[in-house]
Amino acid sequence: MSILVREEEKQDYRRVEEITRLAFSYPGRIERGGIGCPYEHWMVNELRRRDGILPLSLVATECSGETEELVGHIICSKAEVRTENGVIPVLNMGPISVLPECQRRGVGKTLIYAMIEKAKKLDYGAILFFGRPEYYPQFGFKEAAEFGVADAEGYNYPSFMGMELIPGYLKEARGGKFYESDIYNDELNRETVRAFDEQFRKGE
Ligand SMILES: CC(C)(COP(=O)(O)OP(=O)(O)OC[C@H]1O[C@@H](n2cnc3c(N)ncnc32)[C@H](O)[C@@H]1OP(=O)(O)O)[C@@H](O)C(=O)NCCC(=O)NCCS
Repeated sequence: MSILVREEEKQDYRRVEEITRLAFSYPGRIERGGIGCPYEHWMVNELRRRDGILPLSLVATECSGETEELVGHIICSKAEVRTENGVIPVLNMGPISVLPECQRRGVGKTLIYAMIEKAKKLDYGAILFFGRPEYYPQFGFKEAAEFGVADAEGYNYPSFMGMELIPGYLKEARGGKFYESDIYNDELNRETVRAFDEQFRKGE
């Protein structure tokens, strides 16, 4: 079955959130998160709702005959690196989600390559994000430390990664700190996320 990637449309929203919720419901995840439910489906919803921070949202579909089934989703939002000399706009990637029964057959890979290509076409300079350090290096992502960029608290670690889409774009970002939307702050949004998740629990 072929995997196709296209831009997310309004009619995809609910299914994308369901897929995100399912993808992030793997054993151990919810307990570790401490919220009592997945968090990332709310992020996707909220990123679409807030003005001006959502440049890219793509879905992966598998088609058989006339039927198109959504199997994955990836989203990028606007973020920035703040340095002593100014602010450098970057993309923040994630969450990315693949329907559990469709994982490990190339959907995630197809989405990530499509996102990189799309972002390059739109002249974005770099992607910085937090993710699984065992998964993303195969696509060319490196530790953010290699670009001299730290997180907002000034730390570096393997799950903080990045990629220049325009060669040399992050040179100016050296010594800077990465700031993303407060949507990614699970401490801040716990109660809202729990309330949002209620509507997905009905019928479970
Ligand atoms: C992580 C995720 C997006 C990967 O998507 P996927 O469609 O399952 O992955 P792919 O089939 O495209 O994998 C591409 C390659 O990476 C490998 N891979 C997949 N998941 C991996 C993981 N968690 N760790 C390391 N390698 C992984 C695959 O084996 C594959 O290798 P191959 O090309 O040699 O066969 C998907 O498993 C998912 O939605 N997980 C739950 C949500 C999540 O954790 N999102 C990411 C948070 S950072």
